[in-house]
Amino acid sequence: MQPSLFGNSPERDDMKKSVGAKTLLFPTPVLMVGTYDHAGKPNLMNAAWGGICCSQPPCVSVSLRKATYSHACIIERKAFTVGIACEGRMFEADYVGIASGRDADKFAVTGLTPVKSEVVDAPYAVEFPVVLECRLLHVVEIGLHTQFIGEIIDVKADEDVFAEDGHLDILKIKPLIYDTSRKGYHGVGPLLGKAFTVGKSLQS
Ligand SMILES: Cc1cc2nc3c(=O)[nH]c(=O)nc-3n(C[C@H](O)[C@H](O)[C@H](O)COP(=O)(O)O)c2cc1C
Repeated sequence: MQPSLFGNSPERDDMKKSVGAKTLLFPTPVLMVGTYDHAGKPNLMNAAWGGICCSQPPCVSVSLRKATYSHACIIERKAFTVGIACEGRMFEADYVGIASGRDADKFAVTGLTPVKSEVVDAPYAVEFPVVLECRLLHVVEIGLHTQFIGEIIDVKADEDVFAEDGHLDILKIKPLIYDTSRKGYHGVGPLLGKAFTVGKSLQS
């Protein structure tokens, strides 16, 4: 790298190679989007294009192609759930990302148990340890994908994923992480540092 006039910022980065405009982000989550269809059949699909998008009101977004069965279900019911896929359910999580609820009863095939949310008109699978129950707030047409922004009405979590301090414990949840480059599932590693804290060591 060439030294510059401005501190140690280089004029150009010779270390990086361009890979083009692609959906590469590390990490992305593995979200289990739960919906009811017009006949009341529960369905689950895998979505990696999603995440928290507002703190107040608490919101999460998922981006779905119109071709998915779940897309119309969310618009019709104005609700969806977001389960956190976990290591112990990797095979089921992947299956619901391959098969369509248009042709298959994914709950019957996987043996996952559908439960109706008490707060929104959508189901979730009890086997995933954490679930966000969402009311549809906004629909954003982006291109191939439609972004559904859901207001989180409640979060339910299994008792065994709480730590003694009352917080949800990521190491107990064991969420799956999706690698957008090699399209693989990974697990979470150990705590490396406390957020809003470790950066303070660089403050003057
Ligand atoms: C790891 C993984 C991530 C996926 N992420 C998305 C996504 O973010 N958006 C999407 O539209 N489809 C995504 N898919 C594909 C859908 O899950 C798949 O098309 C599914 O069959 C749709 O189900 P449905 O037709 O029952 O709604 C993903 C699949 C996998 C395996």
